Amino acid sequence: MIDFADVIVDLQAGDTGKGKVANFLVKTNDEYTHIIRYNGGGNAGHTFYHNDEKIVTHYIPVGVIHNKKSIIGPGCVVNPKKLLNEIQYLENMGFDVRSFLTIDKRVHIVKDEYIEEDTKDTEIGTTKTGNGPTYRNKYGRTGIRAENCEELKDFIIDIYQELHGINQTCILFEGAQGFELDIDWGDYPYVTSSHCTTGSAILNGIPPQKIREVYGIAKAYRTYVGAKKFETDNPLFETIREKFNEYGSTTGRPRQINWLDLDTLIKSANINGVTKLIINKFDAIKEIGHYELIYNSKNLNLKSDDEFVNYVKLTLLLNCPLLKEITFSETPYKI
Ligand code: IMP
Ligand code: MG
Repeated sequence: MIDFADVIVDLQAGDTGKGKVANFLVKTNDEYTHIIRYNGGGNAGHTFYHNDEKIVTHYIPVGVIHNKKSIIGPGCVVNPKKLLNEIQYLENMGFDVRSFLTIDKRVHIVKDEYIEEDTKDTEIGTTKTGNGPTYRNKYGRTGIRAENCEELKDFIIDIYQELHGINQTCILFEGAQGFELDIDWGDYPYVTSSHCTTGSAILNGIPPQKIREVYGIAKAYRTYVGAKKFETDNPLFETIREKFNEYGSTTGRPRQINWLDLDTLIKSANINGVTKLIINKFDAIKEIGHYELIYNSKNLNLKSDDEFVNYVKLTLLLNCPLLKEITFSETPYKI
């Protein structure tokens, strides 16, 4: 029986610090029984710190770090070799991955030929992890599911039986990518091939009535990796990139930078039903000391960090009826 499900959703184009938020919520909240990844695959890179050690994962939900049941949900795709490597990476750090990680039988498998095909992409600027061709073939009904993959057989479960049985389950959903990369809501075709919204979490077998909190994650400035031009002319963007290491955690590519866009953030918060908003990297923008944002398609310069915070809070609370709480985070270690 499902008691409730909280959702973590990225409101921008990925890399907003979902990994950190997920780690913090699991660490500080005993009620969660299951942590579930609901979309994407090896294209994602989730970074967080555990006992001062930096950990980067692509597939495995953060629950395994805290000995919580962790599921790769049916909305995801998996490259078995890469996943087994990641299991080994976490086992080498001392985590008991095999006692806590399971994979829903409906997950789709990334085949070598899909990676080869994806590697040839020049139009979108993909992560070349085979993500697009895997989802295409899933919908074309020619894909392979995890239940038919010998290498993953020890991990396979049916998520329905796991979540809807006699025991009460309390779920934290961990999203990948973000609203601006969503296949429908993003800037098509510069998008990923999965749904990255709260709706996508529900598709993993959860009744919509059970969603409790939706944690929307954004950064105080925006980043994007891919083929379209996103960065505008401003030497401060290069400073931000270098100072705060804005390079892809999966591909190492430089992330393009731009200012916080409140128009998109409002839309994203409303479509995702965000109740709690976390704006990360506020420490970074304070260090830069330049408080620029976009609202009503115009660039606005604010005079101080206080003015920035007040302006963002007021504008969002006025325009997002479900939003109850906004936190500006100034540390990579907690919310
Ligand atoms: P794909 O998901 O590899 O097909 O890539 C499609 C687009 O999404 C490209 O612009 C990628 O850089 C971007 N992308 C995919 N996953 C992530 C992510 O986890 N963080 C940031 N960008 C991503
Ligand atoms: Mg990332």
